[in-house]
Amino acid sequence: MPGDDAPVDLRLLPGRAVATSDGRLELGGIDVAALADEYGTPLYVYDEDELRDRCRAYRDTFATEDGRANVSYAAKAFLCGAMARVVDDEGLELEVASGGELHVALHAGFPPARMVLHGNNKSDAELRAALGGGVGRVVVDGFDELDRIEQLVTDGLPRPRVLLRVTPGVEAHTHEHIATGADDSKFGFSVVSGAALDAARRAAASDAFDFLGFHCHIGSQILALDAFDDAAAVMARLAADAVAATGHPVEELNLGGGLGVAYVADDLAELPGIATFGAAVRAAHDRVCKAAGLDPVPRLTVEAGRSIVATAGLTLYRVGAVKVVPGHRTYVAVDGGMSDNPRPITYGARYEAFLPARVTSPRTLTATVAGKHCEQGDLLVTDGRLPADVAVGDVLAVPVTGAYAASMASNYNLLTRPAVVFVRGGEARVVVRRETLDDLVSRDVDALGKTGA
Ligand code: LLP
Repeated sequence: MPGDDAPVDLRLLPGRAVATSDGRLELGGIDVAALADEYGTPLYVYDEDELRDRCRAYRDTFATEDGRANVSYAAKAFLCGAMARVVDDEGLELEVASGGELHVALHAGFPPARMVLHGNNKSDAELRAALGGGVGRVVVDGFDELDRIEQLVTDGLPRPRVLLRVTPGVEAHTHEHIATGADDSKFGFSVVSGAALDAARRAAASDAFDFLGFHCHIGSQILALDAFDDAAAVMARLAADAVAATGHPVEELNLGGGLGVAYVADDLAELPGIATFGAAVRAAHDRVCKAAGLDPVPRLTVEAGRSIVATAGLTLYRVGAVKVVPGHRTYVAVDGGMSDNPRPITYGARYEAFLPARVTSPRTLTATVAGKHCEQGDLLVTDGRLPADVAVGDVLAVPVTGAYAASMASNYNLLTRPAVVFVRGGEARVVVRRETLDDLVSRDVDALGKTGA
């Protein structure tokens, strides 16, 4: 926001963030800049209370009297053992989309019965692990997968409870790479072509499946809630058609995830909170199901990733260079970049930056925060705002990086991936250690042979 000298808006930070009287940022009772000194940079920092508050906000909105939360946390947004423990403690279910996510969750002791497995191309190994390991629900993505599950059940694996992933033909207002509900999609059975209904006929008639209902996911980082109303309406009509066609009840309709968050102060104006989203989606679901003659109304379930973890996390960097390019811009270079947060270069995602040791200082300088990778496009914040005295050695923070940053991180340029620290109640704990140089060569099976030759 060139021209706007305001300090970072604290609403982009976890709810309990404190600016101290001497202008320093504290999270979970811990001085944030000091975390960089203690644990090194880049560093992913999560406020654990914020994670828990957001899980609870979802549970409070969607839980039913039978004790079911009806919300699963989408592991793809950010998963490690500690996060799985938070989700379990707070009573949510867990959505996993690969054998890897399943493995990490099981390793952390997350109960498989409260997991949901997704994927548009699940391997036999993933399906075996899910069916054999008692994963609560499998969201089936296509006819080939129906065939493969039937074969696995014939081979003796337990019969899974299944939802059918469908594309409702609804356009969400978001980046095209993350909009997934439209008809031309690699995901699911299309509703409009009749494939979804055919799949329901097949799932309902086969002994290999316990057919529960349908699932859709219309996209991510959605701030306009009307797309969810449209999706709910398509789902309700599909459910009514499926009941008519199969005589089998539809017990559950899952509307997926997608609630957006504010990444920059400009987004705050149009931001619906979790409770607003929940109330709107529940009301729409109830209304359209009743209108479609569904009695009883199927259970409404949702999956949330970004809106649980994004604002709970921020990334700390150390400034290593400040370069003024006359007539162009000022670059503030930090010790990470597209490897720890690929969202700006991948989606053109916007972020802000601030200095946690001077969190209340006006940001009078227009500066571009550059990463250290060998690409000009490796810019974390283009034309952002920083205090004018930003200098080499400062700790710089990028807020709202809790979702799809750590989980999409790479080793590009063979940078080591950052540690993850959780703060809470005046304590900081490393929940994922920083990668080491040894980690970088640990999979390189040929290196020793070459050295020894
Ligand atoms: N359920 C399904 C089936 C999904 O595919 C996703 C996200 C979610 C739930 C969670 O959606 P959320 O509540 O987080 O919006 N890497 C991209 C986002 C990709 C989202 C993929 N699916 C980004 O950084 O923006």
